[in-house]
Amino acid sequence: MHNRKGVKVLTLDDFDLDSKTVFLRMDMNCPIDPETGEILGTKRIEEAIVTLESLKDAKVVIASHQGRVGNNEYTGMHKHAEVLEKLMGREIKYVEDTIGESAQNAIKNLEKGQILLLDNLRLCAEENYEFTPENAAKTIMVSRLSKLFDLCVLDSFPSAHRSHPSIVGFAQVLPSCAGRIVEREVRNLDEMMTVAKAPHVIILGGSKVPDRLEAIKLLIQNGRADHVLLTGLIGNVFMRAQARIKSPLGIKNEDEVVAKAHSLIGDYPDVFATPVDIAIDRDGERVEMDVREIGKGDKIFDLGPKTVEYYSKLISGAGTVFISGPAGFFEKENFRYGTSEMLNAVANSMATTIVSGGHLTTALKQQGLADKINHISTAGGALVLYLTGEKLPMIKSLEDAAIKHRSK
Ligand code: 3PG
Repeated sequence: MHNRKGVKVLTLDDFDLDSKTVFLRMDMNCPIDPETGEILGTKRIEEAIVTLESLKDAKVVIASHQGRVGNNEYTGMHKHAEVLEKLMGREIKYVEDTIGESAQNAIKNLEKGQILLLDNLRLCAEENYEFTPENAAKTIMVSRLSKLFDLCVLDSFPSAHRSHPSIVGFAQVLPSCAGRIVEREVRNLDEMMTVAKAPHVIILGGSKVPDRLEAIKLLIQNGRADHVLLTGLIGNVFMRAQARIKSPLGIKNEDEVVAKAHSLIGDYPDVFATPVDIAIDRDGERVEMDVREIGKGDKIFDLGPKTVEYYSKLISGAGTVFISGPAGFFEKENFRYGTSEMLNAVANSMATTIVSGGHLTTALKQQGLADKINHISTAGGALVLYLTGEKLPMIKSLEDAAIKHRSK
């Protein structure tokens, strides 16, 4: 990171923002109720406020994605605009368009102090692909929109690991800097990682399994994971690879994903811990059982108490603990136990602690444990990758933009 004049990455303090038209890439990707379409956790929208306050004299255009094309969480952004408007107590303009004429006119008509939210960026096909920064700068999105802006502010830390046009393209052609979220995240994490002590215990859950499998290997190879405690869907994948779950899980590319987990266990047999007991849903009731008793068609929704005890012991002996993704179907009261106990164990450990992801951040707040954690981040996959020591595409773009800007 750097700056306040150590440079490397520029921040909002390096620019005169008065009346400037600013492209602000946020990550307002929130959990959505699949039945009602309502936003379930607004933490990522709340976080935007600190950057928006620094931009109060500019003309601000917020751009974000929501969900992935075709999944339950893929929606427009009008509800996000409503939430932000309520939180800030001021008008948030919204346009049901991303790069077309309506969006461009709405941007051109902005006045100083006004904020406009564009529709879901992934409505634009290009935003669903990864590009080199040079090619991202040539996309229709970047070529059309960049002409309308004076400055690009990158503040979507949770998507900093994606090389999408909005994340790596604008910074090629516009003066660019980090927003307040990226500044806070990277500064805190850089500081913590220089003093991080072993053993490093990583607790991984959630449902973005392919992303996590790639990162696990790097974490282990780079000395950032001495123990990997698996929960949630990724735990089920490893249990399937160990042949402890006999029937298919019904996930996308299952054979390939399970084969990857199998080879990781083979390469690092002492690193992984998988659940010894779990809880399933039987007609709406929580039923706990040993993993050897899991039957065909049983849906695993949580950890059991023996696993909680086993994992808690490993957590209490850690020097650094990183937890990402819920341990089960924590939105359902019956299946909140594992997630809640993992957070208790992390909060009460003597280790340096990092909690990652929107779901866990919400759960942590509900349990009143936030003060006991060293660093809380709404980022999931981006943070996992950051901890591997890999440079994230967004950070690389910001560093390149700082060099270009200074050499002018
Ligand atoms: C996240 O929630 O991890 C980010 O918003 C990135 O979303 P993606 O995994 O769909 O790119």
